[in-house]
Amino acid sequence: MNKNGIEAVVFDLDGVITDTAHYHYLAWKQLAEELGIKIDEKFNERLKGVSRMDSLELILQEGNRQDDFTLAEKEEMAGRKNLHYCDFLKELTPSDVLPGILELIADIKADGIPIGLASVSKNAETVLNALQLQNEFDYIADAAKIKKSKPDPEIFLTACAGLGANPLYSIGVEDAAAGIKAIKASGMFAVGVGNLEGSDLQVTATKELLWDEIKAAFTTER
Ligand code: BG6
Ligand code: MG
Repeated sequence: MNKNGIEAVVFDLDGVITDTAHYHYLAWKQLAEELGIKIDEKFNERLKGVSRMDSLELILQEGNRQDDFTLAEKEEMAGRKNLHYCDFLKELTPSDVLPGILELIADIKADGIPIGLASVSKNAETVLNALQLQNEFDYIADAAKIKKSKPDPEIFLTACAGLGANPLYSIGVEDAAAGIKAIKASGMFAVGVGNLEGSDLQVTATKELLWDEIKAAFTTER
């Protein structure tokens, strides 16, 4: 354990490391329109951190079309959304890392604390490669390693286990309501980016994620 008593910091990807949360929204909006269903940014808050198929179910329920399709049709629709999303990913470059994130990662590393990623996205590797961040994480928990999507704590617990860290002495960083619930259910300290109920520390944007302030808040709480 390092001198601050912090054993690991685990980041969400979409919406924390880079603004792919917005690309997910645009891709879902396009698919929803193709199905004659309207979704807006407020509704999209419910999709953040939620797996592809679970997100599709929420959209179908919103349009009252949950009983209209077979599993094969739903898989085709989820695949179509992913094609829309992957089109956006082609534009992603290292300059799309959100403000403050590279500094935060460097400060955590300087304290000798391992860094993990907890993303339910099947595109996590593609996104990290496009941002050239693939070597920054000591352990990556992604869709291939888990069975349950956020808000289940499985992905954060998997990340802590992979880093050899006790969740009670670890920190999670999230931009989604489902993600904050997952962090809290795992026993970790929750840092929320955005107006997120239940966060132990909340900031309005990633540029406010200052390591000294996060350490101070963690120390006060634990
Ligand atoms: C999460 C996003 O990180 O990944 C969700 O917050 C998304 O919006 C989920 O649905 C699954 O992503 P993908 O890339 O596997 O469709
Ligand atoms: Mg997110």
